[in-house]
Amino acid sequence: MADGKTALVTGGAGFIGSHMVDRLLELDYRVVILDDLSTGKIKNLNSKAVFHHTDITQPAMAEIIQREQPDLVFHMAAQTSVTQSTKDPIGDANANVLGTLRVLEASRRVGVEKIIYSCTGGALYGDPESVPCPDDAKITPVSPYGMSKWVAEQYLYFYYQQYRLHYTSLRYGNVYGPRQDPHGEAGVVAIFSQSMLEGKQPQIFGDGTQERDFVSVFDVVDANIAAIDNGDGKAMNIATGEATSVNRIFELLRSITEYKWDALHGPQRTGEVYRISLDWSRAATELEWSPKIGLEEGLRLTVDYFREFMDLAGNVSGSLGGHPGGSAAGNAASAG
Ligand SMILES: NC(=O)c1ccc[n+]([C@@H]2O[C@H](COP(=O)([O-])OP(=O)(O)OC[C@H]3O[C@@H](n4cnc5c(N)ncnc54)[C@H](O)[C@@H]3O)[C@@H](O)[C@H]2O)c1
Repeated sequence: MADGKTALVTGGAGFIGSHMVDRLLELDYRVVILDDLSTGKIKNLNSKAVFHHTDITQPAMAEIIQREQPDLVFHMAAQTSVTQSTKDPIGDANANVLGTLRVLEASRRVGVEKIIYSCTGGALYGDPESVPCPDDAKITPVSPYGMSKWVAEQYLYFYYQQYRLHYTSLRYGNVYGPRQDPHGEAGVVAIFSQSMLEGKQPQIFGDGTQERDFVSVFDVVDANIAAIDNGDGKAMNIATGEATSVNRIFELLRSITEYKWDALHGPQRTGEVYRISLDWSRAATELEWSPKIGLEEGLRLTVDYFREFMDLAGNVSGSLGGHPGGSAAGNAASAG
């Protein structure tokens, strides 16, 4: 499939990007990673890929793209925190809008065949009028993060119209799975999994009835692969169409980890979408893609990863059935 091609993954040291790198290497692509390690991790880096420790907002990035001559670009590097985007909208736009523009400009100069962009579905439509929310629903982002991801998608369209730089924009639901950072603000699955395995009491913001569309990182990687040859010039949701409450995630993980205690409830966070799920019928038509990993299976894979990771690090303290120790771990259910 790779035919000696080079694939560039921006953000390839991150959660989704590192899985993307692994899959591309399995498919025999030569893989180049650009990452500034702001949230990505060295331990996520696949040693078979070429790694450049670079910030996509810096001009040096363009020289690297010039040298590496990628055929395909998977653009995943971004400022990904909704809260951070509210605190620092300029920093957010710098990474997500200007950084993307630099990647686009460098890509067109070297004649990249296609750019596949990691956009957001969860933060694009606000609280949609109906769920599952269709791909062509009104765009009403309620955070600077949602806006910057949306503006970047518009630039992809411009480069497609103006320069025939081919693209597909994939608008993800709440992606979860192995390697998600349990210390971030979002990633409720990772945060709960780690907390429960450590015997700490997870905190739920609000009453936990808020609902999200949880999609496995492995299904997201499949969608990116399917987009190499399909879905040109289009944007589409990549999700499950199912709305799952944070309380339900808590219960499922409690059963998988055999955690015995209840959640702590903190105040509701402002500016959060209350209920969303995403219709993925356009991806089904355009990419012949469908989500394959059911929620319980995906949660088990995630818990297995954290178990293994924590065992290796020797971090699991006390018995899982013991009383929750220490302070509550934070949690969030941001619509990524
Ligand atoms: N995780 C989700 O639920 C979700 C949902 C919708 C969209 N997305 C999008 O998917 C992509 C990957 O997200 P993730 O969850 O893997 O997050 P992540 O934070 O794990 O990955 C982002 C990566 O980009 C790198 N990065 C950030 N700014 C950079 C810069 N200026 N220059 C170079 N590298 C930079 C980080 O170091 C990190 O490795 C992002 O574009 C995000 O907006 C994620």
